[in-house]
Amino acid sequence: METVNIVEVGPRDGLQNEARPIALTDKLRLIDQLAEAGEKHIEAGSFVSPKWVPQMAESAQIFNALSRRPGVRYTALTPNVRGAEQALKARADEFAIFTAASESFSQKNINCSIAESLERFAPVMDLARTHHIPVRAYVSCVMGCPYEGAIRPNTVTEVSARLLEMGCYEVSLGDTIGVGTAGSWRALLKQLLQHIPVKNLALHCHDTYGQALANCLVGLDAGIRTFDASVAGLGGCPYAPGASGNLATEDLVYMLAGCGMHTGIELDALISAGNHICAALGRQNASKVAAAHNAQHSARNR
Ligand code: HMG
Ligand code: MG
Repeated sequence: METVNIVEVGPRDGLQNEARPIALTDKLRLIDQLAEAGEKHIEAGSFVSPKWVPQMAESAQIFNALSRRPGVRYTALTPNVRGAEQALKARADEFAIFTAASESFSQKNINCSIAESLERFAPVMDLARTHHIPVRAYVSCVMGCPYEGAIRPNTVTEVSARLLEMGCYEVSLGDTIGVGTAGSWRALLKQLLQHIPVKNLALHCHDTYGQALANCLVGLDAGIRTFDASVAGLGGCPYAPGASGNLATEDLVYMLAGCGMHTGIELDALISAGNHICAALGRQNASKVAAAHNAQHSARNR
């Protein structure tokens, strides 16, 4: 059976956009339940400015209080060397740097140009190298930008190649506003894969237009074996107005199981983790698979 890696971004991408305060205990319980469900790669927090993203201000406390399970990688977003130093101190297992394929989005999100962001990452990479910390990279807006509209595939290729040259082991291609379709993803991957090995790419699909699952299938067919997802479809980006959450992890796990792919994730336990955090947030579970499962469960108990 072939294995597919899932990077769970719910505790970071999922929660960063929540307006209401979330109890630290709820965040910690979510992370632990995701690990208990068999998730091996969990983005647990973000060392960015608390003025820009207040919901992530407690990330150091989260990393310090985590009950770390063997074999699970707890990772952190690090926008600059200051964030990376904090992540190192908090014992994050991996850094994630992030830039964009759109100049306007880069300015809105991290207050600098794409070129400046790459300069900021150089000392992050040095720190990571010294401490043997793996670094993952995100490129946002690969399918379109909320401010600029269409994005040239060439720009995505150039920025991704640069991040790999700098020493990142993987580039996660972010469809930040979820506008990509099977057609546009196929076209982008066709061009990217002429320059970048498929093993160095991951897909990060937001589900704003309901296309994320189909887009992941295109990635899977192209040979991609790492996908980002967010339990219960939580989330959105504070600097991409209207963007909804990522593809729900439950929906991805269900599809991959149906395709005969191994993820190591136990669906019932994952659904339960999603239900718990949705109850804590007072939100509806955005996973279709969880909704179907929950409806069957309550019908059985009637
Ligand atoms: P800046 O204004 O260019 O930097 O921000 P600065 O050095 O001038 O600092 C500004 C303020 O931030 C100062 O505080 C610094 O001390 C503080 P003040 O003097 O105003 O009180 N600061 C920090 N505080 C804590 N930790 C740090 C840090 N660095 C500076 N590491 C910066 C640059 C990147 C920090 C800022 O723009 C920022 O925090 N942006 C937030 C970006 C963000 O988190 N966006 C959401 C995540 S990205 C995403 O969701 C997309 C993704 O999911 C993929 C996809 O879907 O496409 C990954
Ligand atoms: Mg995202």
